[in-house]
Amino acid sequence: MTDHRVRRAVFPVAGLGTRFLPATKVMPKEMLTVVDKPLIHHAVEEAAAAGIEEFILVNGRGKSVLEDHFDRAFELDWALENRGKEEGLKRSRALVPPAGNVVSVRQQAPLGLGHAVWCARHAVGDEPFAVFLCDDLVLSDKPCIGELLEVHAETGGNVVAVEEVPRDQTNRYGILDIGDDDGRLVDVRGLVEKPDPADAPSNLSIIGRYILLPEIMDHLAKQEPKAGNEIQLTDAMAKMIGNAPFHGLRFSGRRFDCGSKLGFIQANIAFGLADAEIGPALDKFLNEDTAS
Ligand code: UTP
Repeated sequence: MTDHRVRRAVFPVAGLGTRFLPATKVMPKEMLTVVDKPLIHHAVEEAAAAGIEEFILVNGRGKSVLEDHFDRAFELDWALENRGKEEGLKRSRALVPPAGNVVSVRQQAPLGLGHAVWCARHAVGDEPFAVFLCDDLVLSDKPCIGELLEVHAETGGNVVAVEEVPRDQTNRYGILDIGDDDGRLVDVRGLVEKPDPADAPSNLSIIGRYILLPEIMDHLAKQEPKAGNEIQLTDAMAKMIGNAPFHGLRFSGRRFDCGSKLGFIQANIAFGLADAEIGPALDKFLNEDTAS
């Protein structure tokens, strides 16, 4: 196996976002904003900060605004320039990657996360790559994916971000069976999708940051749709255990599940408090203005 530097990241964004209806009836879930940036913007920003150069969106029908977000907004920029609104212009142009570095492929039907990743196979090529689920937003001094990349550079193989979840909630997550554990890095021996708490091999769950070897595409290609007519990423990852190193990393920082209403509101509060412009006033509002 030849190991490469990780240059590419896949962002599956073709889901239906049903838990956020009616907000997501017309607008993609990944365009919901945490403070002033859409979820997809936070994810691409995290990738870019960690040195990822090519961004592959796996997109679906009616969601092309996600691609437009990473293009120049010509008329807006022109108007801002004419009005001398330099700060606005800077914000509008933030995170427009170099020409050709954002690629979009289509997933014609939302057949699951595994299928979405497989749709990116030609754009990914024969290199290890990162996967971001932008519902999972991590507030941290260091980009979460950057921590995974550091582990990958040392150990090679597959690396996933993990965190402890309450025992009684294992049936909502992809859960790890683990071997060696130094408190930060764990050796992955097995993966089980949504096990009952009684059968769960641990309470360590995978969250939406992965470094995967390109061989995952061969396993995804052979998979038949399972429960809910979806092709699971976890099942294909499980097939790679034993063939290459596979580690889970307890990342630093706090993760918010922005695919749920509560997690999304919590993320807005936490990122708002961390924002230099609005943080102090928000803190005051939360501590005083809502106390009565
Ligand atoms: P989720 O399961 O959280 O998103 O998938 P969803 O299906 O859109 O949301 P709900 O459950 O109906 O509310 C995590 C990510 O994977 C993408 C989603 O767009 C989301 O960003 N995804 C999911 C795909 O790209 N294709 C799929 O078939 C499924």
